[in-house]
Amino acid sequence: MAQTEPVHIGEDRLVIHNLVKRDPSAGFAEDVRKGLSFEPKRLLPKYFYDELGSLLFDAICLLPEYYLKRAENEIIERYADEIVSSVDGHKTLLEMGSGSASKTKLIVEALLSMQDDLLFIPVDISASALESSSRILLQSFPRLRIEAYAADYFDSLSALSAKQRGRTLALFLGSNISNFGRDEAPAFLRALRRVLREGDALLLGADLKKDRSVLEPAYDDALGVTAAFNLNLLARVNRELDGDFNLPAFKHHAFYNEEIGRVEIYVESTRPQTVTIGKLGIEVHFSAGERIHTENSYKYDLTGIAQMATETGFSCTRTWLDSQERFSSNLLLAV
Ligand code: AVJ
Repeated sequence: MAQTEPVHIGEDRLVIHNLVKRDPSAGFAEDVRKGLSFEPKRLLPKYFYDELGSLLFDAICLLPEYYLKRAENEIIERYADEIVSSVDGHKTLLEMGSGSASKTKLIVEALLSMQDDLLFIPVDISASALESSSRILLQSFPRLRIEAYAADYFDSLSALSAKQRGRTLALFLGSNISNFGRDEAPAFLRALRRVLREGDALLLGADLKKDRSVLEPAYDDALGVTAAFNLNLLARVNRELDGDFNLPAFKHHAFYNEEIGRVEIYVESTRPQTVTIGKLGIEVHFSAGERIHTENSYKYDLTGIAQMATETGFSCTRTWLDSQERFSSNLLLAV
């Protein structure tokens, strides 16, 4: 991991550590090559979030069918004070995958009503999202300092473990945990637990299992924004790797796999076709109906969350739900 000199911006209230690999497109190219050689074919969901993909995700959050973001906002708006007072002492705030950090603002506000100053440590794969959200927060809160990490989750955790922090409240919101598989999620929580100390806490946002009549439209909306978000992955291969995916010959497919408890998302070839990816020097064949698996979105139940907490060095001490009981915010105390 090549840690560069931290960048100081303005007065010394903002420091950004950039741990993102020097050539980010190298990872994308290799992962696309590998993923399309698998049987069945697959692509990783982290590659949805280029500039256009990030904007499409923001649009998804405004869709009537996609309740997750609004439900979590409702919880945090209503219970921010209660949430932050569940952890005692003067706190440092750490957020994994902070993105545009809109809900973070409510937590920061609650913390600053209880303590004189606050150190916020956001971690996000996008340096530009970190910089713009940090500037907005610093403008609103003069008693705030920010030490940001542009990094993927596991790289940032190894950088964070070396640092001494006071009492820490960590946030992992938006059901971002849902892209981890049933074994990966506990592995991530264990890695996060290692940078925390006993008495620290994690606020974990997790979408709940529910009827497919609610889940499926959330991932296949009438306006077609989620379809565009999904197909943007192929468009990104075209843009960055000189591909010739013919987008109208592929379609979005999402369904709830109830046995496994996850929404599965695919791009499906509507006919037999061959795609050339110039920068990889490969041709990829598709039969009619063949799919590329692009995402899993795991759904949780409250006993599953409590059990996972126990297995990973935490204890789930409180859970808050939205009024329609679709989404959960869980306080996991490091024990
Ligand atoms: C950002 C992973 C929480 O799974 O609900 C939304 C991503 N994909 N619509 C989710 C997503 C399609 C989202 N997460």
